[in-house]
Amino acid sequence: MRIGCPAEIKNQEYRVGLTPAAAREAVAHGHTVMVETGAGDGAGFDDATYRLAGADIAPDAATVFAEAEMIVKVKEPQPAERARLRPGQILFTYLHLAPDPAQTRDLMDSGVTAIAYETVTDPRGGLPLLAPMSEVAGRLAPQMGAWALQKANGGRGTLMGGVPGVGPAEVLVIGGGMVGTNAARVAAGMGADVTVLDLSMDRLRYLDDVYRGLFRTGYSSTAATAERVARADMVVGAVLIPGAAAPKLVSREQLSAMKPGAVLVDVAIDQGGCFETSHATTHDDPIFSVDGIVHYCVANMPGAVARTATIALGNATLRPLLAIADKGWAAACRDDPNLLAGLNVHAGHLTNYAVGQALGIDVLSPKLALSE
Ligand SMILES: NC(=O)c1ccc[n+]([C@@H]2O[C@H](COP(=O)([O-])OP(=O)(O)OC[C@H]3O[C@@H](n4cnc5c(N)ncnc54)[C@H](O)[C@@H]3O)[C@@H](O)[C@H]2O)c1
Repeated sequence: MRIGCPAEIKNQEYRVGLTPAAAREAVAHGHTVMVETGAGDGAGFDDATYRLAGADIAPDAATVFAEAEMIVKVKEPQPAERARLRPGQILFTYLHLAPDPAQTRDLMDSGVTAIAYETVTDPRGGLPLLAPMSEVAGRLAPQMGAWALQKANGGRGTLMGGVPGVGPAEVLVIGGGMVGTNAARVAAGMGADVTVLDLSMDRLRYLDDVYRGLFRTGYSSTAATAERVARADMVVGAVLIPGAAAPKLVSREQLSAMKPGAVLVDVAIDQGGCFETSHATTHDDPIFSVDGIVHYCVANMPGAVARTATIALGNATLRPLLAIADKGWAAACRDDPNLLAGLNVHAGHLTNYAVGQALGIDVLSPKLALSE
């Protein structure tokens, strides 16, 4: 198969869809790989490294889109990219179609077969191509929060680990899933005093079993949250109710009970945020203050560490990518129902029920799409 990887054109996106390591594997499987010149620069992979891996370097995106049978990317295709897609071409990338009717229409009109990273499942019901970005954002959250706690950034001027004779920062993590557990581990590693709240007793049992001694766990009741928010130097918002907007767990009123200069890191901002006063920010201008409380609410946190995020995403996407290239998308999806769950659009039809429900569009069953 001819696999093509264009440079990302979305604002502030430095990741790239194909690493040199993935390119090498694809070439070893007998495929040809074409990467747009400069596509890997933001993640620290230059053209020469791709050439060494056996890839061809294309002069521009137009060439990649015109010649490739499968396009591999990171972010959803932008309008200029959508205009270049053609019937029968395969698109393998994050799509997030449910809140994006314009993109959904364009993909259906293009005749492309689009497999979305975020809806590929695993046998345990997890989302294996979404998980690495939650790991990255979770581990980054205390790092950004620690920076925001510095006086010059409006913070309280508290050092995460304290020093002998001075206690550490108190960090509260709300939501003990993929983001929250990674955030808690890093905050504890920085020497902070960490508590994780969750609603799921199974999850709390797991965290207590595995991380006892590193951080404490608590049940996420309204009272427990209010009491701990008032004490915290940093609160990390990491809740998720699948398919729903994030619940608002800290109100504006509660800010007045917090320590002046405390920091809220709202990782759940991509689902609307779990603090009432949050609004999405960018890496250019990541923080703002409300009533003396510093908010960090960047919606695409992994972009800050594009190299780590690119390699982590590349590790997760390699097996499905090779399956699609080796067998063709239909046989690969027939052999693997978890990959079939990733099929969102095929030959003018929407093939994902959740997206169809969100947008009010009729859905062709993915199984029927296989036999088309
Ligand atoms: N900003 C970014 O760059 C970025 C990057 C990756 C993920 N995210 C977002 O981070 C959020 C968390 O993702 P995840 O992968 O950790 O999800 P996850 O499903 O692994 O974990 C979510 C946890 O929240 C818990 N929860 C739900 N309601 C709660 C409540 N009221 N109180 C306490 N806990 C509650 C659940 O029990 C679960 O353990 C999602 O909104 C995700 O989209 C943001």
